[in-house]
Amino acid sequence: MSKQVLILSSSPRKNGNSETLCDQFRKGAEETGNRVEKIRLAELKIEYCSACYACKQLGYCVKQDDMAQLLEKMRAADVIVLATPVYFYTMCAQMKTVIDRTLGGAQKPGLENKEFYLIATAADGKAAMERAIDGLRGYLECLPGAKEMGVIYGAGAWQLGDIQGNPAMEEAYQMGRSIC
Ligand SMILES: Cc1cc2nc3c(=O)[nH]c(=O)nc-3n(C[C@H](O)[C@H](O)[C@H](O)COP(=O)(O)O)c2cc1C
Repeated sequence: MSKQVLILSSSPRKNGNSETLCDQFRKGAEETGNRVEKIRLAELKIEYCSACYACKQLGYCVKQDDMAQLLEKMRAADVIVLATPVYFYTMCAQMKTVIDRTLGGAQKPGLENKEFYLIATAADGKAAMERAIDGLRGYLECLPGAKEMGVIYGAGAWQLGDIQGNPAMEEAYQMGRSIC
């Protein structure tokens, strides 16, 4: 069965290492008949959560930016890929900002029971990526019925293009292919 796959690529670096893994994932998922959309978070206008909690009463966030449209895409997706570069041992700010803003979206149904894949890239080895992955896992714990389906570690990738030839490239492609 064809699934709707939404890839959230959070690196501000266009065609960077984590985005390249997203593209590999996308290639695999499309080859097996899934519908895939990749969004570069850095190209959206998304403000920080102000912790005003207006969403608790209203059911939506009062900020007028690109988050409402992104939330609708997240609601419509069966599968969500969260991809981040490791910045100071954790996820990058673009990813964290989006995650915080889903608080408003969590006030009404639609974010439950999604399948998630996690992608991270870092200059150092896998151990340097665990806190970033753990942070993403913490988010999944907050979403009812969220299922972690796979994690891709693009370790040892620093400069643009370093990810080429990394085993994570094939892993991302195969993980994309495995969606059915
Ligand atoms: C602000 C900043 C902080 C970083 N912090 C780390 C780090 O803590 N550990 C690490 O291994 N690499 C770190 N890096 C390197 C990136 O994780 C690495 O270049 C990664 O491949 C970037 O992925 P991208 O090309 O998708 O943006 C940092 C890079 C930047 C710009």
